[in-house]
Amino acid sequence: MDFKQQVVDTLVKVLPEDITEEQVSNLIEKPKTSDLGDYAFPTFILAKTLHKAPNMIAEDLVGKIDTTGFEKVVNTGAYINFFSDKAAFSNSVLHEVLTKQDEFGNADDGKGRNVPIDMSSPNIAKPMSMGHLRSTVIGNSIAKIITKLNYQPVKINHLGDWGTQFGKLIVGYKLWGSVEEVEADPINNLLKYYVRFHKEAEDKPELDDEARAWFKKMEDGDEEALSLWSWFKELSLKEFQTIYDRLDVQFDHFTGESFYNDKMDAIVDTLEEKGLLKESRGAEIVDLSEYDLSPALIKKTDGATLYITRDLAAAKYRKDTFDFVKSLYVVGSEQAEHFTKLKIVLKKMGYAWSDDIDYIPFGLITTGGKKLSTRKGNVILLDDVLNDAVNLAKKQIEEKNPNLKNKDAVAEAVGVGAVVFHDLKNDRRDSFDFNLEEVVRFEGETGPYVQYTNARALSILRKAGNVDYSNAKDLSVTDPEAWDTIKMLQNFPNIVERAAKDYEPSVVAKYVLKLAKSFNQYYAHSKILSDDEGLKARLALVKSVSIVLQMSLGLLGVKAPEEM
Ligand code: ARG
Repeated sequence: MDFKQQVVDTLVKVLPEDITEEQVSNLIEKPKTSDLGDYAFPTFILAKTLHKAPNMIAEDLVGKIDTTGFEKVVNTGAYINFFSDKAAFSNSVLHEVLTKQDEFGNADDGKGRNVPIDMSSPNIAKPMSMGHLRSTVIGNSIAKIITKLNYQPVKINHLGDWGTQFGKLIVGYKLWGSVEEVEADPINNLLKYYVRFHKEAEDKPELDDEARAWFKKMEDGDEEALSLWSWFKELSLKEFQTIYDRLDVQFDHFTGESFYNDKMDAIVDTLEEKGLLKESRGAEIVDLSEYDLSPALIKKTDGATLYITRDLAAAKYRKDTFDFVKSLYVVGSEQAEHFTKLKIVLKKMGYAWSDDIDYIPFGLITTGGKKLSTRKGNVILLDDVLNDAVNLAKKQIEEKNPNLKNKDAVAEAVGVGAVVFHDLKNDRRDSFDFNLEEVVRFEGETGPYVQYTNARALSILRKAGNVDYSNAKDLSVTDPEAWDTIKMLQNFPNIVERAAKDYEPSVVAKYVLKLAKSFNQYYAHSKILSDDEGLKARLALVKSVSIVLQMSLGLLGVKAPEEM
C-alpha cells in the first residue's frame, strides 16, 4: 500500500478542484517528530483562493475529511496532520518486505541500460593511494545501488598504464634494477627507480632524452620496450589484485590507458575536421579560453598523446561499445577541471551524449589532519591498514564471543567491512580523518555496529525456530516503540532511489545506521520472544529488519556475518 498516496487521495476529495493531485503530492511533508503524525499538509497556498486564514482552512478541512484508514487526522495551526493506522501500515510493510525479500526496493528506472563506471584506476608501477581505494569502494557501491534500479553497471578499471613515465621507469630499471629485486617487491622497487630517476635527471638531463626515446620505442611497438612494460604491468596488477580480493570487488574490464593507443588517431582526426585543433608552441591544443580554462593539451611537440587525449578516446569507445545512458567517473575532486574540460571538448566535437557523462568527485582521507602522501599510503600500507582493522576486530570478538566458530573469517568480514563502511558513511565530497580505533568500534556510527545488530536479529530468529509467514494474515505491530523502525523499513525504496540519483552511498550508510539504532531501541524495550498473540508479527518485524540491514550492507560492499 502506498500511504502517501492514501493521504493524497483523501485530500483531493475535499480540496478546491483547481488544485491538481500532483500539487497536493508535492506539498505533503513528513513531520520531523511523530507527535505531528506521519504526513502533514500545509494549507498556506489555499488562503488566496478561499479568502481565509490558513489555520481556519485547516480546521474546516479536518471536519470534512474521511478518516477511514487513518488512526486520526487533526490540525495543528495551518497544518493538517495525518496519523497512519499503525496496524494496517505495519501489516502491509512487513508483508511486502517478506514477500519481496532481496527484491524489496527494486525498480525499473534503468530498463537494463548500460552504465559504465570508471573506478579505482591506479597507476602501474606506483602504489595504490587511499584515493584509489576510495574510488574503488565508492564505485563498487554505486554499481550495486544502481543495479537495484535495473541499470547494468559496467565496472571499468582505467589503469594508468601508458605515458612518458614508463620511459623513465625503463631507464631507471636498466641502470639500477634487477629481476630478483623487482620480483621480490615489485611496486616498491619500481617506485624506487622512478624516484631515483627524477633525482638524477636534475643534474643529467640526458637521462630525460633517453627516457623519451624509450617511450617512443614503446609507442613504435619495440619488442624489448613492450615486454619490460608488460612485465611491470603484470606484477603491479598482481599486487592490486590482493586488495581487490580482500574488498571483494570485481571489474568487468581492465582497459587502461594503453588500450586506447590505436583509437587516438581517429580522435585527433575528428578534432582536426571540426577545426578545433590549434597549434601552440609546437603542441596541438583545443583552446578553452572562452570558458576561462587553460587549453586541453592533445598532442605534445614530439607527437606523444596525453591523459585527456586518451580520455577522449575512452569516452567515445564507451559510447560506441555500451551505448550508455550514463557514463560515470569516480575520481578524486582534484581532477574536477580535467573532467570539465573533457566534457566541453566532447561537446565541441558534436557529441550530444557528453551531457550523459557524470563526474563523481570525492574528498581526501587524512590521518591526524594530514594528507596521506602517495609514497607512504602505498598498497602495502593499505594492506596493513586492513590487517590492523582485522586484528582489532578479532580482539573484540575474542572478548565478546570467545566460543564463536570461524573467528578468522568473521574478523576479516568485520575488519575490512569497518574500513569500507567508514569510507562510505560521510558525504563523498567531504574529506575525513581516519582513526582505526574509531572505525572498528562495535558501538557508535560504525560498520561493526550495524553488523552486530544484524547478528543479534538473526540470533532472535534462530531462537524462534522456523516460522512460516506466508500464511500469516495479520502482521500488525502496533507497539509504539516499533513505529520508527516500521516507517524506516517502508522508506527503504526511497533511500535507494535517492542514493542512486545523487551517486551517494552515504545515503544508504546513514540510513542503515538509523535503522540499526531504532531497532536496538525497540529490542531494548520489548519482549520480542514472549509467547502471545503478537509473536509472529514481532518476528516478522525482526526478520524484515535483518533483510533490510543485510541488503543495505550489501549495497555498500560490506559483508554481514551471521554471528559475531
Ligand atoms: N590513473 C589516474 C590517477 O591515478 C586516474 C584515472 C581516472 N580515470 C580517468 N578516466 N581519467 O590519477
